[in-house]
Amino acid sequence: MQIIPLALALFSLLPHSTLASVLAIDYGTDWIKASVMSPGVPFDVLLNKDSKRKIQASVGWKKTDRLFGTDAFNLASRFPSDSFSSIKYLQAAPFDSDIVSYYTTISTAEVVKTSRDTVALKQSDGNEWSVEELVGMQFSYVKKLAEAVAGEKVTDVVITVPPYFSQFQRDAVVDAVEVAGMRTLTLINDGTAVAVNYAMTRTFSTPEYHVIYDAGASSIRATVVSFSTPDATSGTQIAVAGVGYDLKTGGTELDRRLREILIEAFNTKHHKDIREDKRGMAKLWKEAGRVKAILSANTDATATVESLAWDIDFKAKITRAEFETACADLKDLYARPIDDALRNAGLTLENVTSVILTGGSTRTPMIQAAVRAAVGDEKIALNVNADEAAVLGAALHGAGLSRQFKTKNIKVTDIGLHDIQASYLATSSSSRTITSLIFPAGSKVGTKKTLTFKRKEDFVINFDYKDSVAPGFPTRFLEVGIEGVAEAIANLTELGATDPVVKATVTLSESGFVSVSSAVAFGEIKDDSIAGKLKGFFGGGSSAEAEVTPENSPPRETDSSSSSEAAKPSGATNSTPEKEKEEKKKATPKDNTITLNTTVVFPTIPPMTAEHKKNARSRLRAIDLDEAAVARKEEARNTFESYLYRMRDLLDEENRDTPFKQCSQEAERKAIAAKLDESFAWLHDKGDVAETSQFLDKRNALETLERPIIHRYKEIEEFPQALNNSQMWNWSTRLFLQEAKENMTAEAAAELPSKWTQDELDSLEKTLKEHETWLNEWVEKQKAVKMNEDPVIETTEMKARAKVLETALMRLVKRKVPKAVKKKKESTTTTATTSEEATSTATAAEESASVADTPKAEGGGDDNTDTDTCRS
Ligand SMILES: *[C@@H]1O[C@H](CO)[C@@H](O)[C@H](O)[C@H]1NC(C)=O
Ligand SMILES: *[C@@H]1O[C@H](CO)[C@@H](O)[C@H](O)[C@H]1NC(C)=O
Ligand SMILES: *[C@@H]1O[C@H](CO)[C@@H](O)[C@H](O)[C@H]1NC(C)=O
Ligand SMILES: *[C@@H]1O[C@H](CO)[C@@H](O)[C@H](O)[C@H]1NC(C)=O
Ligand SMILES: *[C@@H]1O[C@H](CO)[C@@H](O)[C@H](O)[C@H]1NC(C)=O
Ligand SMILES: *[C@@H]1O[C@H](CO)[C@@H](O)[C@H](O)[C@H]1NC(C)=O
Repeated sequence: MQIIPLALALFSLLPHSTLASVLAIDYGTDWIKASVMSPGVPFDVLLNKDSKRKIQASVGWKKTDRLFGTDAFNLASRFPSDSFSSIKYLQAAPFDSDIVSYYTTISTAEVVKTSRDTVALKQSDGNEWSVEELVGMQFSYVKKLAEAVAGEKVTDVVITVPPYFSQFQRDAVVDAVEVAGMRTLTLINDGTAVAVNYAMTRTFSTPEYHVIYDAGASSIRATVVSFSTPDATSGTQIAVAGVGYDLKTGGTELDRRLREILIEAFNTKHHKDIREDKRGMAKLWKEAGRVKAILSANTDATATVESLAWDIDFKAKITRAEFETACADLKDLYARPIDDALRNAGLTLENVTSVILTGGSTRTPMIQAAVRAAVGDEKIALNVNADEAAVLGAALHGAGLSRQFKTKNIKVTDIGLHDIQASYLATSSSSRTITSLIFPAGSKVGTKKTLTFKRKEDFVINFDYKDSVAPGFPTRFLEVGIEGVAEAIANLTELGATDPVVKATVTLSESGFVSVSSAVAFGEIKDDSIAGKLKGFFGGGSSAEAEVTPENSPPRETDSSSSSEAAKPSGATNSTPEKEKEEKKKATPKDNTITLNTTVVFPTIPPMTAEHKKNARSRLRAIDLDEAAVARKEEARNTFESYLYRMRDLLDEENRDTPFKQCSQEAERKAIAAKLDESFAWLHDKGDVAETSQFLDKRNALETLERPIIHRYKEIEEFPQALNNSQMWNWSTRLFLQEAKENMTAEAAAELPSKWTQDELDSLEKTLKEHETWLNEWVEKQKAVKMNEDPVIETTEMKARAKVLETALMRLVKRKVPKAVKKKKESTTTTATTSEEATSTATAAEESASVADTPKAEGGGDDNTDTDTCRS
């Protein structure tokens, strides 16, 4: 194994305009980690608003304010019904499943049932939020962080999921992504994501097996992965060989055990039951997490919670030994996933180069000790970032998939963990069911299988997990009806097909979703023509029970049975008639395949419908809009308030010779002072209930009084420059006229042509005189104006008049007589500078205009229909 620097392994980017950012989210039970892959942005983990590298997976409400992260988590001790954490447990969980009752032991939130029999959490004000909506809010929060970093809309996302997640849970994740207004590029199993991160900086001259051991909050899982780099050009290949997992242990369960110790300690000492107090339970939950962290590095710790409940300050000493005793029954579970993973992969520890530890709970001594004991110290590797490897790997994987970034070439092959079977009635009249294992556990994802049925009527294919994926979860997840069979078979028979059959292609997608991607009626048609005989040779599909076609292989022309290309009506291609004829001669007969309709029913835990998602998006958007309005009001109030203070300073007696004082009159200051007092009083009395527009109006009223003063000040500041400009044109024109007259005289004497006529020069002189007269008169008048009086000439008018002179002058200066080019030397110097100035001002103006005009990308929002490409 060879390590190459990360910087080298990363991308050289394509031109910016063609790229869209890719967001990766490692959505955990306790923590969210995210990373955005965006052109020109250094590749790293996203920081939250407090510059933390991970975000607590919580959302909550403090009265009407919605909070995220640690703020939301901490709310639980004051608002136990309005702080929602560990939501990942509840994804797709049937309301009456074991995991939901477990959840109620670790959370103070109230669980309620949705119309889909899944779980929603209920705020104290009665608002109910489905799990997808709550997760969607968190995704949306991360999306905004990513957009701030990327400087553009972010819609493509890769999400990590535990490898054991069933289709139910995967659907819940993808639905939450859509609720957040994004699109799932793919789901990636978290162990696989860590493997991608691991492979990023390494090459494997000989194949190696590693175990990714990931101890998280809600489960422990182990993934056996093979790494190989056959040669430099084909890149590195990662293949998942086996996975093991345990759902009974993990960081949350340890927290729960530790809290039990604290509950016991409190109840014994104070003869009360802390379980009756939700706030107290929430406080103890937080304390248990803190104590667990201390016990990771120390042999004892003191739990202290002020005013835990009934005004009692709680204090208890906990030893690591005590904690470990309380977890004794879990001891055997910690390392078991490694054994299971190896067994599933058909390997032993000897085949494994290292066991890579990742996940926050690997810091817990008893877990790490159990793994060390099981695999031996020498196999333990701490060479990936336990918190961030998964999200970084997911981002790299997503960037590779989006094909917009040039990343290291890593080919990933993953597997499904659950036995998936298809069942259907043997014949339309019988009640005998045929069941076949179509994707046994360990099947590669991203593959298809084609099932062949001898049916003459519509029928239904049911898809089940052979074993329930978790207690209380149903096994059936999909029912697909195949329709229009009778007519299609009749038509094929009519055309002369013998024994036409129905072929259904079932896909296990890269993201782990099972679907029927196509269904056709198919029959070989006897044809006595030569073309027909050829068809018979090449066109006939085999009647094998199930054939496997790798998803990514190009559809072969002759393979009409499983290629969706062949199912398209021939009119879809705009080929010329001749070409079409040629194609017909050599190509597969298309008339022996008839596309059938499929209908999809979710018989148990249905994913959200398009309507559900649309409603959820508008609920979330309503909150976003409210929050934006609140932010605007806050800003208006703050601006108003600081404006008031600034005005008060300006009026202050102490500040004597300020421009403000110099340029204002007593009466004006009095008027402002009066308005200011009124505004302060209003802010004090009404500030908390006022509308945004009132803050703006009040500020505007004051600004109106202040504006004339500012104007005077600005005019005084700008006057010298404007005068200089006027004089400069005056001076240049005079100089020009003098020279031009002299030259004209000389030219007349030498009988040479002149560039200008006498009239033109006279006209310019007249313009100059007018300008000079005006300037003299008004400059004198202006000189008499006091600082606190309005100016009698505006600098804008001075500039406009100078411009008239400038234009008149330049018209003559620019006059071209090819022979006379050299003659212009002196005036061209003037011209050069001026025109340069002119250009640069013009550019500045254009720039500011284009900044203002920059079209803003429109939000995806409502019309964002089903965008999940990953499910099929
Ligand atoms: C695993 O190790 C055993 C014993 O060393 C060896 O016989 C076997 O070939 C190895 N398997 C693989 C896939 O490397
Ligand atoms: C498939 O469904 C469409 C729309 O529902 C319908 O028009 C069409 O006739 C159906 N085709 C078959 C073969 O059932
Ligand atoms: C069957 O044949 C009839 C008559 O040619 C046609 O109208 C109908 O669309 C065909 N149905 C299918 C499913 O191909
Ligand atoms: C006028 O502007 C020029 C160039 O900016 C400068 O050199 C000159 O000193 C200015 N004259 C006055 C009177 O401000
Ligand atoms: C215009 O320029 C001439 C010559 O430089 C100068 O004598 C005159 O005072 C200037 N007039 C004004 C108003 O600046
Ligand atoms: C006047 O003539 C001289 C000498 O040919 C030339 O350098 C100068 O540019 C001319 N001036 C104008 C204003 O044309």
